Amino acid sequence: MKPLKWWQSAVFYQVYPRSFADGNNDGIGDFKGITEKLDYLLELGIDAIWLSPHFPSPNWDCGYDISDYCGVAPEYGSLDDFKTFLREAHTRQIRVILDLVLNHTSDEHPWFIESKSSRDNPKADWYVWLDSPRPAGAGGVMAPPNNWQSCFDGDAWTYVPERDQYYYHYFMKQQPDLNWRNPEVKKAMWDAARFWLELGVDGFRLDAIGTIYEDPALTPHAVPMNLAQLRHFSETAQTPKEIKLREKYWHDMFHNQWGQPGLHELMKELRAILDEYPGDRMLVGEDDDIAYMGNGEDELNLVFNFPLMHTPATLTPAHIRKNQKERLARLKKLPKGGWACNTFGNHDSSRAYTRFGDKTHAAERARLTLATVLTLPGTPFLYNGEEIGMTDLIITDPSKLRDTMATWYHQSLINDLKVDAAEAAQRAGEMTRDKNRTPMQWSNVANGGFCAKNVEPWLPVNPNYAAGVNVKDQRNDPMSLFNYYKRLLHLRKSTPALVAGKYTPLEIQAKDYLAFTRRVESQTVLVILNFSDKRLKLDLSKSIGAAALHIIFSSAGRSRTLENPAEIHLGAFEVHIAELK
Ligand code: NOJ
Repeated sequence: MKPLKWWQSAVFYQVYPRSFADGNNDGIGDFKGITEKLDYLLELGIDAIWLSPHFPSPNWDCGYDISDYCGVAPEYGSLDDFKTFLREAHTRQIRVILDLVLNHTSDEHPWFIESKSSRDNPKADWYVWLDSPRPAGAGGVMAPPNNWQSCFDGDAWTYVPERDQYYYHYFMKQQPDLNWRNPEVKKAMWDAARFWLELGVDGFRLDAIGTIYEDPALTPHAVPMNLAQLRHFSETAQTPKEIKLREKYWHDMFHNQWGQPGLHELMKELRAILDEYPGDRMLVGEDDDIAYMGNGEDELNLVFNFPLMHTPATLTPAHIRKNQKERLARLKKLPKGGWACNTFGNHDSSRAYTRFGDKTHAAERARLTLATVLTLPGTPFLYNGEEIGMTDLIITDPSKLRDTMATWYHQSLINDLKVDAAEAAQRAGEMTRDKNRTPMQWSNVANGGFCAKNVEPWLPVNPNYAAGVNVKDQRNDPMSLFNYYKRLLHLRKSTPALVAGKYTPLEIQAKDYLAFTRRVESQTVLVILNFSDKRLKLDLSKSIGAAALHIIFSSAGRSRTLENPAEIHLGAFEVHIAELK
């Protein structure tokens, strides 16, 4: 077997800079704060950081609307602060990848300001501009070029009087799509990527790559509703027929606006740029389509296994098994081989603790979730705060929402769909991504120790910091989720089979538990995850033979003992990892 690249053996940890650590006590996270917490991350046992956007931005989309690709948002610090952070991370052998947003810029980016100023300026063709299909005049209101929707805030077209034209935006109107068919755009963006590569960053997470090109024929969608109506329909859909229709409508509404020809060529170009730099710089795409890995070597190194985390209900052994079967088979087919990448949380999705927990067993399920992502084949990505069991915080005061997508939805519920105020606030609070972006809870003091009591954090802190959901208390408690994360992360590092081993599922009919082996030449490890609230006694001697099992990890606190494969005892929800001797 080829020696692994660093990004194959690493565990990544997503830092959401606005919420991670506030070094200057202004209620907003920053580089000083992140740098001060690097020893914390080292202690936890992660190997690489994915940093969500840290660039100057008017923050209509929390930094995913960038107004300068080579700068640092002043609220996060200066370029020197970034360099210090990068140097200190590297000193600790922690790699850093940045978020590269290719599809769109902010509408306050100088490129867009110039582009929208006239039809014949040097950047006139840097964005996607179109005339109205109907001539203006006779007092007539211009009509957008077609019925495409933005996935965030209504029409995908916004009119600009200076040009008497519309520009296209897949996301908010403050996020105009770049025209990637223009070679100057490509060059400018590749230059930005090089700027950070030269500073020494280890790669990029590529935002929303599927949306870079649109159907040039501008084929309209055929869904009989607009975005607000579709969102509302999705939330109220109940019957199997409605649920099926909901999926079809989401697909049909946007399928002309993503996944269009040209993307693979573009990914190849970017790959070639990264390969000019030493140190195996890497690319991970915000997409689950394995096709973006090209032949396994010439496009992206990784794409996220989102289908694993997108379960309609809580995580089950059957779901994981099916997912692995399909996913690993597809990766294997890549001519140069592919590498998996698993995750259960990020800044766009409800927190795993909330999503997979039920009222009585959330803590146990959080332990199973981590064991799943750290023992299945592939590179794991964790999301900041999951190591202490942070949960969603439903913000029902609309004035406290910072996710503009939710503010827009709240307004359309009230104004267009005539939903009453209390229900609209609740729905917006549930759909917003603010709920999973609240500040990190460092200790049991006001504002969870994120910032001082008299400072208002940019988003409210979840009050459960006072009920043990904070780093300081958990650090002192050997049985805490934090210490469980630490133990399992360190075990993974010292267990080659868990990083590189071939995956073989066992007992594939079992409903209550997931069992599999991971095997490298020097070691075979058996993983059993009991997803049920029952104690189990298993006989696995037929599938793994009679050799004794040496327990190397047990969430039930079993000490390092030998076990008979014909008589394996598991406690309710136990995570049980053993080496075959
Ligand atoms: C995906 C990002 O993860 C999300 O937060 C953002 O709103 C969109 N892309 C637009 O950049």
